[in-house]
Amino acid sequence: MTQNLRIPSAARGKQITITVNKIPVTAYEGETVHAALTAAGIYPLRQTLSGETRGAFCGMGLCYECLVTVNHIPDQQACMTRVQDGMEIQTHD
Ligand code: FES
Repeated sequence: MTQNLRIPSAARGKQITITVNKIPVTAYEGETVHAALTAAGIYPLRQTLSGETRGAFCGMGLCYECLVTVNHIPDQQACMTRVQDGMEIQTHD
């Protein structure tokens, strides 16, 4: 079960379902992967080799702290990737 931290009154696109670490998560067309994961309460997005946790920092494609695997393609920027129905996302452990 994931959370829903979205502002209820905000306009958004069509509801879709993505999977995050094999768990179904509600998302909306037009959202970035980062937005959908944050709204679902999913954080952190990855760990460094030394075990430190990382997540989105800049939110605009500059810091590369938000890397996740999208549809089996590693190291995709969650903040720069828009969700699509059926998308499979894996955070990095
Ligand atoms: S949050 Fe900085 S590149 Fe995605």
